[in-house]
Parts: sequence; C-alpha cells; structure tokens
Amino acid sequence: MPITGKAKLAGVFGWPVGHSLSPRLHGFWLERYGIDGVYVPLAVEPSNFETALRALPKLGFLGANVTVPHKEAALAVCDEVDILAERIGAVNTVFVTPEGRLQGSNTDAFGFLENLNQEAPAWRADGGPAVVIGAGGAARAVIVALADAGVPEVRLANRTFERAETLARDLGGPITVIPWPERTESLGGTNLLVNTTTQGMSGTPSLDLSLEALPGDALVTDIIYTPLKTKLLEEAQTRGNPTVDGLGMLLHQARPGFARWFGHEPEVDTELRSFVLSGLTG
Ligand code: ATR
Repeated sequence: MPITGKAKLAGVFGWPVGHSLSPRLHGFWLERYGIDGVYVPLAVEPSNFETALRALPKLGFLGANVTVPHKEAALAVCDEVDILAERIGAVNTVFVTPEGRLQGSNTDAFGFLENLNQEAPAWRADGGPAVVIGAGGAARAVIVALADAGVPEVRLANRTFERAETLARDLGGPITVIPWPERTESLGGTNLLVNTTTQGMSGTPSLDLSLEALPGDALVTDIIYTPLKTKLLEEAQTRGNPTVDGLGMLLHQARPGFARWFGHEPEVDTELRSFVLSGLTG
C-alpha cells in the first residue's frame, strides 16, 4: 500500500544484506495489515555500523533488526540491552525509545521455540534430553531457549571441543559437553536433535552424523533453511522421525520487532511461509 509522510520506519542492518528475507517478510505483514510503514534493507559495512545504528533515533526510525556480521557489535553499541541479549551475547532487534535511546533485545531464542511449538506441538521440553550440534552464535540462542523451556539436559557436541566448553561455562545450566567422536552415541535416549552448524547448507557437505542411536520418536530440527529440507531432515524423515525445518525460526523471531514498531501482533501462517519461500527461489 502507498505510504504517507507519517509512515513508521524500521529496517535491517547487514553486510551484505541483499540475501536477507526480512524486508520481504515485514513487507508482507505491512501489506496484510494495511499499515502505513516501511521496512528497508540497510547495507552498512562494519566500520560504519556504530555511527549508522546511533543515527536511527535522529532519522526517526522506530528500530531495526540486526543480522550478520553486526549482532555482537550491536550489543556493545546499544544504550541498554535486555537479559536475553546479554546471555546470548548478541542483539538482533533494536527498539528506539521515545527518549531516543537504543534498546537491544534478542528474539532468536523466542523464534526457535515458537517454531517448535507451532510445527511440532507434541514435542515437550521436559520430555527428555536434547542434543545440540554446533557451538556458534546460533547455538547460544538455541541453548538458552531450551534451558529456559525446561529441557532437563542439553548435550552439546561441537567439532572444536573447547568452543563448546566455553559456551557451556558462559551459559551455565544443564549442559553436558560431548566430545565430537561421541556425538552419535550421545543421541541415545534423547527427544530432540538440533543442528546449529553450517553443515548441510546449500554448497556445503551435509552434517557428518549417524542417526542410528536416535529414538524413533525424537524430533529433528535444523536451523538452516537453504535448502528447506537438508540431508539431515531427509534422513530423519526416512527413518520416521518428526522434523521441523529452519524457516519458521526466521519468521517467528521477527514477530516481537514488528509488533512493537508497527503496533500489530503479526501471524505466521502458510501464506506467509510460501511468500517468503518464493523470495528464496526467485
Ligand atoms: P553461527 O554464529 O552463525 O552459528 P559460526 O560461529 O561460524 O556460525 O559457527 C558455525 C558452527 O558450525 C560451529 O559450531 C562450527 O564448528 P567449529 O566451532 O568447530 O568451527 C560448525 N562447523 C563449521 N564447519 C563444520 C564442519 N565441517 N564440521 C562440523 N562442524 C562445523
């Protein structure tokens, strides 16, 4: 819909940002709810990021999302950050307060959990241990989400053992660090497996993990969404395990920002999914 001079402004910082699906996602919601607002890509290189972020209040923006490689820098630049962003060590959503202060938040843990709640309502956080593969930035959000949801034990396996140990020490809580060669056995008795590594993304080899010890009813999810069905999810489906793809995490993490900037609680449904997906393919 056409915007007016009073349009509400938000956007997404990234470098590069051309691949980001967020403008398409927020644009769909703005159109659906008939809101006088815009959500724009903000291609800002790292050396300009602090200046650009601090300019948001001066430009009248209500806030912005922050994606690779700025999430950690945003944590340092914001005037205040909430506890979740502090624990995860990254900010992905910034709100400009009426006083012009930058409030940093992280909605990735929320997005991860809401995706599971919507796509796999039968999965119960307290139903058994979870295995998380990978110890990068995405793993931090996933582990915080799982621990807060009440998962009794998170078994964390990462190719670089020390990185997993550091993450476990930083986050605290019910994390058991699993040596990489023992990742297959660690699947025994669990009810959730999450891949947070880049392995399986288009153009990379698939995750090197045998599912033989995984219980038949355990949920398998990947945070990768290009491709939507990774080899890991395909293999899990073949052996009968329920699966959830990674696109929903992206869609759900966007909800809190949209709601506060544009004043409407947005919905994630199949129409939105298809629209955002068509942005991936064409
Ligand atoms: P992000 O912050 O987006 O999660 P990242 O910090 O680059 O991304 O983390 C990528 C994850 O993929 C890490 O857990 C990485 O393992 P290392 O800590 O050992 O680097 C994992 N990863 C990347 N390539 C891998 C491979 N070939 N085999 C197994 N894990 C791999």
